[in-house]
Amino acid sequence: MTDRFLIERAEEAMANSYSPYSRFPVGAALECEDGTVFTGCNIENAALGCSICAERCAIACAVAAGYKRFKKIAITSTGEDYCYPCGTCRQVLLEFAPEIEVLCARADGRYVSYPLRSLLPHSFGPSQLS
Ligand code: THU
Repeated sequence: MTDRFLIERAEEAMANSYSPYSRFPVGAALECEDGTVFTGCNIENAALGCSICAERCAIACAVAAGYKRFKKIAITSTGEDYCYPCGTCRQVLLEFAPEIEVLCARADGRYVSYPLRSLLPHSFGPSQLS
């Protein structure tokens, strides 16, 4: 699957963002190992701590549907800067896909790509508990 295709799926998902408090819509598209794509958007709440990020929304949808092996995730927003995943989303990605590639896009469609490992070095993951 091309990076561009995945970013376009993230852009589509961003259209469903519920972000009246931050006014910062985010979309994510998660590619599973078999090519299935799950998408997510940020969903905010008046009790701000109840909000969920677009990436975790996509991961939750995938896991709930029985998918746990992921290759690539694209994240986008309407901002001028690349949309990097927050620390919590990096940690949740690590749980399922330590080798995942992370595409961080910006509004004009340009993007940068990183291995999750480089975004979360010296991490605490499942292997520490086994
Ligand atoms: N947000 C995401 O959806 N993903 C991230 O990785 C960064 C932040 C959302 C959360 C909140 O709804 C808004 O962006 C502003 O922080």
